[in-house]
Amino acid sequence: MARGPSRVEGLPRVKGYEAVRAAGRDFERYSSLHQGDEDVRTYRQLPLESDPPLHTALRAFLVPFFSKGSLAPFQSHIEADARELVAPLRSGNLEVVRGVGLSIVVRTIARLLDRRGDIDEWISWGPSVWGDHDGRRDGGPLLDFLERAVDEGAAGSGGRLFNLLATTPVGGAALSRDQQIGVGSLLLAGGRDTVINLIAGIAWMVATHPHHGAALRNDYALRTPFVEETLRLVTPLGLMERIDRGPEGGDPQRSPHVGLDFASANHDASAFPCPAELRVDRPASSPHVAFGIGPHACVGAPLARIEAHAVLQELLTVAPDGWRVTHCDAQFREVDGVRLPSSFQRLVIAT
Ligand code: HEM
Repeated sequence: MARGPSRVEGLPRVKGYEAVRAAGRDFERYSSLHQGDEDVRTYRQLPLESDPPLHTALRAFLVPFFSKGSLAPFQSHIEADARELVAPLRSGNLEVVRGVGLSIVVRTIARLLDRRGDIDEWISWGPSVWGDHDGRRDGGPLLDFLERAVDEGAAGSGGRLFNLLATTPVGGAALSRDQQIGVGSLLLAGGRDTVINLIAGIAWMVATHPHHGAALRNDYALRTPFVEETLRLVTPLGLMERIDRGPEGGDPQRSPHVGLDFASANHDASAFPCPAELRVDRPASSPHVAFGIGPHACVGAPLARIEAHAVLQELLTVAPDGWRVTHCDAQFREVDGVRLPSSFQRLVIAT
């Protein structure tokens, strides 16, 4: 079997809006009991790569970290970070991927986990936790950090999350070392390049749709549908793995693996007419699935939205007459004959 990040891309896919929504909800048939990224890790990222009952218990542990009430104290810090990071656009140019996205996600997670001393180390990995060494991925630096954080959690000095991981029974049992590493890994990895690509996507969409930029500045109510449309068009996490146990629920060890194609759902013309167009008036009856659907739907969605809105607000304030793209190094998907960005390595905008 092929190894590494592209393995899931070679699997048969569940495609289209209705099929993806149904499969995402049907966790009894579509199991998540697998381990991905075999080239860079030997542990499961949790709760992502688990099924009930462990999944249910881990989610119950994690969700309170991301509730509205828990995130409220962080909002003003996120807004202040956005203000500082977008300010260089005043003097002409701004690199959005590392200059804004990477810094804001790392600072935010560091505050949330109560580990601000780690910011420089986390930034040094680059936009992906697996690093960017000319395309070669490396799970070592993340694992070194997680080993240290789990030890500190056991000693009561690991910060909010790692202290709780060490001491809180989840589903009636203490979490193993690997399970604590798996939760920490997902929190550091899951909200990183996804949010960075959303933020870069927002900057790219405004630059390439200037009439939307003008409307967004004047009408706050348009900002939510604009961010949601950007999420749909970019779909930062386009493909996730499942094990198809079949309608009778066969043994996951012997069942075929498939890719759950969230991007195909978000670009399905039967749910989103003219799917490549950015339309802020799409009906709420067909919500996008950029944050997934069903029991594994993204826990961090409220945080991602706060970060995205904070950056959009600052961009519109600093550059009231809009901006243009002067350098774009990105991957694109073709949707309805149009190239839409899905991930960015570098994006420079200028007023
Ligand atoms: C634009 C930003 C983001 C996007 C597009 C995104 C997308 C997704 C998707 C599609 C899933 C479902 C995966 C599946 O069904 O297999 C997911 C799950 C998850 N996400 Fe996010 N995510 C984002 C931001 C975040 C943030 C900021 C965090 C936390 C810091 C986070 C933490 C998680 C976790 C813990 C899960 C696993 C939930 C479970 O298995 O029950 N994500 N995300």
